[in-house]
Formats: sequence, C-alpha cells, structure tokens
Amino acid sequence: MKTQRVTIHTLRQMKERGEKIAMLTAYDATFARLLDEGGADVLLVGDSLGMVVQGNDTTLPVTLEEMAYHCRAVVRGTTRAHVVGDMPFMTYQASVEQGMANAGRLIKEGGCHSVKLEGGAVHAELVSRLVSAGIPVMGHIGLTPQSYHQLGGFKVQGREAGGRERLLADARALEEAGVYAIVLEAIPADIAREITETVSVPTIGIGAGVACDGQVLVSYDMLGMDETFKPRFVRRFATLGNTIKEAVGAYVSEVRGGSFPSDAESFAVNEVRATQSPLYSTVGKK
Ligand code: KIV
Repeated sequence: MKTQRVTIHTLRQMKERGEKIAMLTAYDATFARLLDEGGADVLLVGDSLGMVVQGNDTTLPVTLEEMAYHCRAVVRGTTRAHVVGDMPFMTYQASVEQGMANAGRLIKEGGCHSVKLEGGAVHAELVSRLVSAGIPVMGHIGLTPQSYHQLGGFKVQGREAGGRERLLADARALEEAGVYAIVLEAIPADIAREITETVSVPTIGIGAGVACDGQVLVSYDMLGMDETFKPRFVRRFATLGNTIKEAVGAYVSEVRGGSFPSDAESFAVNEVRATQSPLYSTVGKK
C-alpha cells in the first residue's frame, strides 16, 4: 500500500489534536530515507547546508541552484515526510516579484512541497501572493540566520524591551498572510508558549522551549556528527561522529593489514553467481 504523505493539512490537524510535530533537516537522499523511515513528519532542506555540508561559517553563500539540487535528492529519498525547501539569502528579499519567481523555481526544479522564508511582517505581502499562487509557506522568526551580520551573530532574540510584542506581531502577521507553520528559533520559552497559544498554525521550535507544537533540529547536530559543536538547545541522540571515525579507523587498519577484502568479497573468473546475478542484488535496494 502506498504511504500517505504528510501535508500542510496533516500538520494543522496535529496541532488541533495536540500531537507534537517532529521535523529534522535533510540534505541528501540517503539521510532523507533514514529520517523518513525513522518517522520524521517534516524534512527541511535547510540552508544550514551551507554550514554543515559546504563548510561555510554562515548560510549566506547558498544559492537557489544548490537548494534545488539538494531538494531533488531529499524528495527522492522520502515517501512519507513533507519536504520543505529553504529560500536562500537574497532570493526573496529584493522584491515580491523576485520572491515569487524564485519560490516557483524551488517548487518546480526542486520538487519540494513547500518553501520556508525568514522574517515576519516585512514578508506578509510575499507570503500572501505565494499562497494565492498555490505555494505553501513556512515562516521563520526569532533568530534568522540570514540576518547574521544585522543581528551581530547567532544570539537569542526577543529579550530586549518590546521584543515579545515584536515577535507576537510578526507571528500574527505571518498567520494572517497565510503561512501554514512558523519556525521559532532561539527565543525565550515563555514567548514561544505565548505565540503558540495565540496563533492557529503550528509553531516549530528550535531553542524555543517545549511548548511549541513541534521541534526541529539540524540532523547533523542531533546525530552528533560534529563532536566539537554542542549548543545548549541541541540534544545529541547519537554520537555518529565518533562511530564514523571508529569505522574508518577499522577500515584503514584492515586495508593496511591486507584482511580486506576477503575471498568472499572478491570475484573469480568462472564463478556462476557472479555472472548470473546483478552486482548489487544483495544490498536490499528497493
Ligand atoms: O536552515 C535550517 O536548517 C533552518 C533550521 C535550523 C530551522 O532554518
């Protein structure tokens, strides 16, 4: 039986039923398959790939073409999760027309099911035009990494005088404009709670406390790929960085010691099995 795809309507129903939404970032087909099969409801092809995949210090260099490429790979790896494509820096900030054209490209060329953009009331018109054109939009307020230089770094937002009111106004403006969900990044937990209780659309928190309707983490962070990186809001659910290094160490020593590959992992000229069966038939490809 074909798996039922999570849609923006499923997410709204989850909020209404009080069921938490589990969202993670994904950048390639293999990880997307694992996260999808692990039960993540939403996979965000985040522009965080500029940092964790490309090795940049910020998300700013990521291009629309790169996002579309990664979105295509992630969509191919999933059967159930809703896939969101992040709009990269300066692909929607210059004008509503620019945002419309580029969001359209991400949907058409990337194959994702919705787009995410950073910022609140300032993008209300763009959100409303995109939604009218049939493109679902996820909002993102609080710490918006594309404003890294304007914010003076990756810092908790909303603690300043008027910060709570500004965030609430942004969340309301996005809801009115038609977003189907809002990411709340790095804001005090009680402000996130108030926003979550105020808006009818699901809130997805990252460093925003437990009251949000769902949570998102960068998958590389929650899998412990970088053992030197552990901000307070990240919980490591695995330590894959160490696991990978141990596996590589074992491989290196078996290659050097001549114990890999064995005869069973090699081919002989007159072997019947090797000529009759496809090379990759035993690795469980779908
Ligand atoms: O780019 C990203 O991964 C994100 C999440 C951290 C929300 O925007």
